[in-house]
Amino acid sequence: MTESAPVDPTSTDAWKALDGIADGFTPDLRGWFDTDAERASKYTFQAADLTVDLSKGLINEEILGHLLQLAKDVDVAGRFEALISGQHINVTEDRAVLHTALRRPKDGEGLVPPKGFVVDGEDVDAEVHKTLDKVYAFAEKVRSGEWTGVTGKRIETVVNIGIGGSDLGPVMVYEALKPYVQAGIEARFVSNIDPSDVYEKTVDLDPETTLFIVASKTFGTLETLTNARLAREWLWKQLAASGAIDDSDEKKKDAVAKHFVAVSTALDKVAAFGIDPENAFGFWDWVGGRYSVDSAIGTSVVIAIGPDNWREFLAGFHAIDEHVRTAPLEKNVPVLLGLLNVWYSNFLKAQSHAVLPYAQYLHRFPAYLQQLTMESNGKSVRWDGTPVTTDTGEIFWGEPGTNGQHAFYQLIHQGTRLIPADFIAVANPAHPLKDETGDGSTVEAGQDVHNLFLANFFAQTKALAFGKTADEVRAEGTKESVVPARVFSGNRPTTSILAPALTPSVLGQLIALYEHIVFTEGTIWGIDSFDQWGVELGKQLALQVAPAVDGDAAALEKQDSSTKSLIQKYLELRK
Ligand code: F6P
Repeated sequence: MTESAPVDPTSTDAWKALDGIADGFTPDLRGWFDTDAERASKYTFQAADLTVDLSKGLINEEILGHLLQLAKDVDVAGRFEALISGQHINVTEDRAVLHTALRRPKDGEGLVPPKGFVVDGEDVDAEVHKTLDKVYAFAEKVRSGEWTGVTGKRIETVVNIGIGGSDLGPVMVYEALKPYVQAGIEARFVSNIDPSDVYEKTVDLDPETTLFIVASKTFGTLETLTNARLAREWLWKQLAASGAIDDSDEKKKDAVAKHFVAVSTALDKVAAFGIDPENAFGFWDWVGGRYSVDSAIGTSVVIAIGPDNWREFLAGFHAIDEHVRTAPLEKNVPVLLGLLNVWYSNFLKAQSHAVLPYAQYLHRFPAYLQQLTMESNGKSVRWDGTPVTTDTGEIFWGEPGTNGQHAFYQLIHQGTRLIPADFIAVANPAHPLKDETGDGSTVEAGQDVHNLFLANFFAQTKALAFGKTADEVRAEGTKESVVPARVFSGNRPTTSILAPALTPSVLGQLIALYEHIVFTEGTIWGIDSFDQWGVELGKQLALQVAPAVDGDAAALEKQDSSTKSLIQKYLELRK
């Protein structure tokens, strides 16, 4: 258990120096590039397949030097070591935090910690690979048609029922790796307790070819268990309606056995739901929900893309884990990006951080990152229970480019707020289409559309960095009264992340990159990035309010006046 008080970052000389620089800071990206021909190469780094260019960020050598000193002062490297070696750095839950163990290769040589390391009496590598092998074997059976539904038909649709980390990761990865999905297998994802979600995801399905995966670390989450029961009811009703099963308990049990599997750390609760523990895939309390996409929580995706691609995905994570473990701080990409975020949010007072993938297959990546970053670092106390000494967390948000360009980029370019943005792109698209006809003027016939797409990626970061001066606007013949509205200040920071292609490995690398950015920031702030007590109060109150919403007058009376009148209005409106 890590009991020592965190270093107060604001007490360090590095922090004070950064504070001094931030006071009256006037970035000058145009000037910095003009006077330093090496700026691009100096600030471009490599982590596995990811090329990361920080040169259009608001940093210079002095700032970076102090940020790196800050990382040393709070012992970022030591905290990473504590994480990968299984120390109980999740102090409020007294748990190890070992998502990095989920992707250690089975037969890897030279692993640190060495292969077969034991945490809390458990051989972590053996446990991880036993479960992975079980998931792979099951996935192969479903993919080959050996696993059938209760009427002997092969599975065509896998419906993952989960929420938060038991949904956002799998759905994001499934969407990102669509080109790798086996023909004839589709995955769907039910998360919201709004009954419309389960209705829409099942309404056109054939129950005989549908497999439900109930994914819940705790197997106690209201949304997931309610949806699982709705799905089970749907299955029984549909199978009975077509005459596939009769209404007997035995047949219903058979149907559940063939159409429901589970992923959870609570195998007793899985059995109580009626799912055979043989058909359940476990994981461990040392995997946080938002860090679990590469555990058995990804079973729906393993079925869709197959074990070989999944191995590649895990190898991608591991490559970044190795980078973060071995690269010196000044070349350590996740650490540098975490430090940069601290600079923007704590010193330059940025409130939010945009993530803008120029890859349509990454369209759920910003939503995934919202849980990863905000559930991890939205904290007001440090790991020793004392108040934080500075702002924590940033609001992460985003949409794929170029869609975002036609929606919210206006504010990033010309608004009053500083919004650092990560631009993510891959060089090789899954579908390299050409615009064979073009429009005869701006778009030539035969134009490679991905090049056109990426021209936007490059252009946006250029516009944000260098802007457009009033003189440049005037030189275009613009009427003087309109000049101010057409000026772009520039100096709006971006980080560009470029990878060869959106392969399973690259996706794993991207996820691990952000996991470690989050940890770097949490370490600077001295917080436990692995608990999430902030979600509990709402869960408790929902159960307390539920009887009132169901019409219980005594429960209604107990509510505050606003909640009471809203519920009354709801009850009036509800038919
Ligand atoms: O909402 C909080 C949370 O605990 C998340 O951290 C987690 O990913 C999600 O609920 C789902 O939890 P479970 O997998 O236990 O159903």
